[in-house]
Amino acid sequence: MSFKNLTVIKHPLVQHKLSLMRDKRTPSALFRDYLRGISLLLAYEVLRDLPIKYQEIETPLAPMKVPMVDGNRIALISILRAGNGLLDGILEIIPDARVGHVGIYRDHKTLKAVEYYFKVPTPLDECDLIVVDPMLATGNSAIAAMARLKQLKPKSIKFVCLLAAPEGIQALQKEHPDVPIFTAAIDECLNQQGYILPGLGDAGDRLYGTR
Ligand code: URA
Repeated sequence: MSFKNLTVIKHPLVQHKLSLMRDKRTPSALFRDYLRGISLLLAYEVLRDLPIKYQEIETPLAPMKVPMVDGNRIALISILRAGNGLLDGILEIIPDARVGHVGIYRDHKTLKAVEYYFKVPTPLDECDLIVVDPMLATGNSAIAAMARLKQLKPKSIKFVCLLAAPEGIQALQKEHPDVPIFTAAIDECLNQQGYILPGLGDAGDRLYGTR
């Protein structure tokens, strides 16, 4: 299956760390560390078109106009709680970025997204948004987050995840075809509970050792 507006980041270091994360024997501390490492590598690709501003400096030998990243115009939006696992690494390489959190949980019976928290930088209309959530499963949380964020008229939105199911990609692209998706892998399908197969289990639980 091929999708438009989707980038799969196949770098061997990303794939290696992802394989370690999938292993059910990997403890939370290592799981968090691998995700942090992957997020740095994903960010490198996702931030390829970062806005640059020129600044006058002096080298020891001559004045020069140098390119600088305008990190302030980037807002990283974490879909709680697993999004924080990706957020921390990306924030390390773009520390001036602003940060927002959207709390959405999946109702386990209906698999529908329910919002319980929304705090983002304002105003958002000057910002390019990077929305992060490790697992794009049904797509319901991402779809709801995008709809809510679009009300604040950001300049652009990208979505970054670690693993995506074809069902989630299709659903997100149907509702938000303008949002480019970046992922490290596309897995086979969802199971009846809406988990990605073969996947890595519940990303939030594995990050924070809650189960
Ligand atoms: N959320 C998870 O944490 N894991 C899945 O497989 C699907 C959604």
